[in-house]
Amino acid sequence: MTSISTTQLAQRLMVALDYPDDTSARELIRKLEGIPCYMKVGMQLFYQAGPTFVQELKSLGYSVFLDLKMHDIPNTVKSGANSITRLGVDMFNVHAAGGSAMMSAAMQGVEEALAAHPLLNRPWVIAVTQLTSTNQQTMNQEIGIPGTVEDAVIRYAQLTAQAGLNGVVASPLEAEAIKKACGADFLTVTPGIRPAGSAADDQSRTKTPGEAISGGSDYIVVGRPITAAADPKEATLQILEQMSQALN
Ligand code: C5P
Repeated sequence: MTSISTTQLAQRLMVALDYPDDTSARELIRKLEGIPCYMKVGMQLFYQAGPTFVQELKSLGYSVFLDLKMHDIPNTVKSGANSITRLGVDMFNVHAAGGSAMMSAAMQGVEEALAAHPLLNRPWVIAVTQLTSTNQQTMNQEIGIPGTVEDAVIRYAQLTAQAGLNGVVASPLEAEAIKKACGADFLTVTPGIRPAGSAADDQSRTKTPGEAISGGSDYIVVGRPITAAADPKEATLQILEQMSQALN
C-alpha cells in the first residue's frame, strides 16, 4: 500500500471508541498513532467524557462521528443537532424510526448552527435504519415491523433520503440495495464488520471488511475486533490491508 492509499482507506475505517472513560480511549488512540482513521464516539464514552473529549480528538486531527442516535420530538432533535454541529464533528446520526419530521428538524438544527457560526464544518447527518443486532424475529415480534429486515431498511433509507439527510447506518448486507434505492452518493456507514475468524459478539448481520467495501459500504465501523485485539495496531493494519485488497 502507498501512503496516500493508506490515508484514503483509513478515512473509510471508523474505529468505535466504546470505552467507559477518556483515559482508556486515549490509550487506544496512542496505540493507533500514525493511522489517520475516523474515530466514532458513542454514548458510553460521550456521556462520561463529553464535548471536551470530542474537541480533543478534533484538535489531534481526527475526523469524528458522534454516534448518539438521537430519537425524540422534532424540536428537541433540532436543538440537539444544533449543539452537536457547534462541536465541529464530521458526522452524527438520528434514528430513522423518529420519522421524516424529526429528521428534517435535525437538518434545520444544522442549518441554524451554520448560520450562526459560518466557519463551522458542515457535518454529514445520517440515520440508523435497523440496528445490526436486530434480526427478523426481533423486528417482527418485538418491534412490530412486519416483513424482512431488508425491506424495512430500504424503506427507512428512502425516508431518510427524502428528508434530506446524507445517508444511513445499516448492515453491510444491505449496502448494495440501499445504493440502488437511494443513489450512489447516498452514504452507507456499516457496523457489523467481522474479519474472517473473529467472534460475532452480539452482531447478527455481519460481513468481513473486504466484503463490506466490495459491497458498496462507504465507511466501515469496527469496534471489538480492534479494541479487544491483543495488538490493536496490527489488527487495524490487517483490516486496512483487507480493504485495500477488496478495492484492487
Ligand atoms: O464492537 P463492534 O464492532 O460490534 O462495534 C460496532 C459499533 O457500531 C458499536 O459502537 C455500535 O454501537 C455501533 N452500531 C451498531 N449498529 C448500528 C449502529 C451503530 O453496531 N446499527
